[in-house]
Amino acid sequence: MARPIVLLAFFPDVSGYREALELAGFEALTDPSEAVQRMEAGRGPDLAVLDTDGAAEGLAATYARLHANPTVPTLLLFSVDPPMFEGTAETAASDEYILKPVPPTALVYRLQASLIRTGHALPGESGSWADAESLAQAPVAGEGHVISVFAPKGGVGKTTISVNVAVALREQTRSSVLLLDADVGVGNVTSVLQVPFRIGLADLADSPPSDWTDAAFEHVVCTHPESGLRVLTWGNDPGDSERVNVDLLLAALRWARRQHAYVVVDNHPGYDDRTMAMLTVASEILLVVTPEVGPLKNSAQFVELARQVGLADHIRVVANRANHGVKVAQMSETLGLPVLATVISNGPKAVMAANEGRPLITKFPREKISTDLHNVARLITRQTVTTTGPAGRRWWLPFASRTSQA
Ligand SMILES: Nc1ncnc2c1ncn2[C@@H]1O[C@H](COP(=O)(O)OP(=O)(O)OP(=O)(O)O)[C@@H](O)[C@H]1O
Ligand SMILES: [Mg+2]
Repeated sequence: MARPIVLLAFFPDVSGYREALELAGFEALTDPSEAVQRMEAGRGPDLAVLDTDGAAEGLAATYARLHANPTVPTLLLFSVDPPMFEGTAETAASDEYILKPVPPTALVYRLQASLIRTGHALPGESGSWADAESLAQAPVAGEGHVISVFAPKGGVGKTTISVNVAVALREQTRSSVLLLDADVGVGNVTSVLQVPFRIGLADLADSPPSDWTDAAFEHVVCTHPESGLRVLTWGNDPGDSERVNVDLLLAALRWARRQHAYVVVDNHPGYDDRTMAMLTVASEILLVVTPEVGPLKNSAQFVELARQVGLADHIRVVANRANHGVKVAQMSETLGLPVLATVISNGPKAVMAANEGRPLITKFPREKISTDLHNVARLITRQTVTTTGPAGRRWWLPFASRTSQA
């Protein structure tokens, strides 16, 4: 299978970028005239990155060629003002602007996000496109809204919020909602939500990516009878955890987005590859924080990291157990972001609901905690953020060593 081809043009020094892209499985071109020749022959590039600083000869002509039919999604790097090209308004719906400096890993990340947005697969570890064949066959019925529930620390209430927000979205919108348990190895959605679970993504792990078809994912998914919520889990045997890799999770997510209006992803705490992939493709990241100084510091580090790579606009902060400890205003100040929803603490009810395998909002609909959880879902239904964040390859590793993982 071919590797995605990216034109990197007009860079003062392209070598570090070229290397990062090739490591991530892309083929990099640096000569605009070669790219034009290939376009004429119908062989790419699939994406382009133009450094627009300096009045490089040929820049406007290359831009125009990339926007002649068919348009090549183009990322434009700039230092002060976003560049303007003739005809931009009509032709540049797929352009993205990136303020310099941009580290090579962050650029890779942006390109991966562009691939996902334009309906392509990411290049896999092998350097080939992960599942281009199954994608080519799959009809695209419309983008689902992906809500990734995340915290850098464990035990703050991610699963409780994921399950209840997913059911609340279903109740509020009556549209199709899928809950994806991506906490590979330890996730326990199916033990707190009673569903007729039979198999998980781990059961697809030994099949080649070309077998990860719509039918295969449909076979793995199960339905929560009371709410109609659909649930897809990684599996339930911790021994399977290594087999459910990033490519499989992303393939599952692409399928999920095509087939559902909302996809809620319950993530593993910390900065592993799988979790970061699930954040990369999120329309919204629900960052769950608790009013404790230590975990708040970890969350503040995550917000800083997200700012660096352009993901911060997607974060919606939810404070769980917010009625004790650090005050909401102080949490906002620590994070540099507003707390958009709070969920009170109600241990006895949370335990009773989980023990019965029922969501809090259906078991105790009149409790304040259920109203709060519905309000978290309203953060999603009231807004229409549809863009995905930039993508990168293991850019989070420096943070992983600084932040504890569960
Ligand atoms: N608002 C709340 N009030 C009282 N108890 C809560 C609340 N939210 C979560 N809990 C309880 O806290 C515990 C941890 O919650 P949960 O499993 O949702 O966290 P998590 O972030 O998913 O954990 P992990 O990182 O281990 O996956 C559970 O026993 C849950 O019932
Ligand atoms: Mg959990």
